[in-house]
Amino acid sequence: MAGSRKVFIRSYGCQMNVYDSERMEELLAAEGYEATGSPDDADMILLNTCHIREKAAEKVYSELGRFKGLKAEKPDLRIGVAGCVAQAEGEEIIRRQPLVDLVVGPQAYHRLPTMLRRLAAGEKALDTDFPEEDKFDHLPARPAPRRGPTAFLTVQEGCDKFCAFCVVPYTRGAEVSRPARRILAEARALVERGAGEITLLGQNVNAYDDAGTSLAGLVGQLARIDGLERIRFTTSHPRDMGDDLIAALGEEPKLMPYLHLPVQSGSDRILKRMNRGHTAEEYLKLVERIRAARPDILLSGDFIVGFPEETDTDFRDTLALIEAVGYGQAYSFKYSPRPGTPAAERTQVDPDVASDRLTELQALLARQQRAAQEAMVGREVSVLFEKPGRLEGQMVGKSEYLHAVHVSDPNLAPGALKRVRITQSGPNSLSGVIAG
Ligand code: 5AD
Ligand code: SF4
Repeated sequence: MAGSRKVFIRSYGCQMNVYDSERMEELLAAEGYEATGSPDDADMILLNTCHIREKAAEKVYSELGRFKGLKAEKPDLRIGVAGCVAQAEGEEIIRRQPLVDLVVGPQAYHRLPTMLRRLAAGEKALDTDFPEEDKFDHLPARPAPRRGPTAFLTVQEGCDKFCAFCVVPYTRGAEVSRPARRILAEARALVERGAGEITLLGQNVNAYDDAGTSLAGLVGQLARIDGLERIRFTTSHPRDMGDDLIAALGEEPKLMPYLHLPVQSGSDRILKRMNRGHTAEEYLKLVERIRAARPDILLSGDFIVGFPEETDTDFRDTLALIEAVGYGQAYSFKYSPRPGTPAAERTQVDPDVASDRLTELQALLARQQRAAQEAMVGREVSVLFEKPGRLEGQMVGKSEYLHAVHVSDPNLAPGALKRVRITQSGPNSLSGVIAG
């Protein structure tokens, strides 16, 4: 019976995948699939995958292997692979794991209904096209946001930067910006359904350009939506950090003082080998300009250690850059050679050396993160409350700096935006009391 079918979607990797999973869930709801939180009672399982590092891709195959028993018990169970592994490996997935029925790339998932009909006819379905049509035009209108008062909204996809280590330009394709008017309509719908905060997503979000409307222009238009209190955007590339966006960080009160601005390395030699298109000095100058516009901004970054030919001196340069910037938050990774990318062919760093570097770098980043958190104690921040905390009467939300903040107050409800005085800094979150 149509209405009783259930779909389980698991999302790996970045926030774009979280957004795509939500949109696929909405699309499948229109096809009569109800979402379930458990693979055991699903009629369809979809893994929305990530190909960025080898571990992420391999996880998909081990997860698929685990569904063998389920499929044996329930022969009608349909198993699909979506996302970047689907795009990168295509048919190979079905060859390697024949229990997979469906493979759909990130630009083709609006075609899921047609693919389901092929499955119903007993065929396998594969679609990894980059279609002419805009997938967003073929998706149902947005229902209420899933994650409480915060929502993701994809505004830009793809990447033309071709960093030598990265598969994204191959799996997500060239940089494409969605029309601003579509984004505004989607944002209005999300706000009407209860979103107070929207995070604009893009692989190169600050390269956003809709016939001359830049990301700063888009933010300015979004800021005029009543009821939308906060705007964030991620991920930005240093080369696309325009003057208007830097100015907006200082001038637009709805734009939150948090910026994820990956640099990957602090060594000019490695940055060049990575094809990043900027030097360490240029990045530091950029940070200076951003801080001049918005002195309290919390900076976040991504780092890769053990990139091919990285020497100890190169690595020390990365530590020096981190010391110079002072990050409030960061992600760091050991270089993982990705098939088809230029760096995969080069002389690799000894994995033990890379592991030691990662440990040292992460210790430094953890110290900076702790310091940034502890610096909040005694300060007043604004918190958008999202959900109940673990303790009775407690609510948890995010500050403008994206710190999780716990407050015990029985009068708080999800969606409340309050001034909070921070009283304590714990290992991963802050706590405080309502100010005033
Ligand atoms: N190996 C390790 N880390 C990678 N990233 C991208 N490609 C690789 C790779 N091959 C990291 C970068 C990027 C983040 C999303 O993932 O730091 O900013
Ligand atoms: Fe990958 Fe570089 Fe593009 Fe980011 S900018 S998605 S790291 S190629």
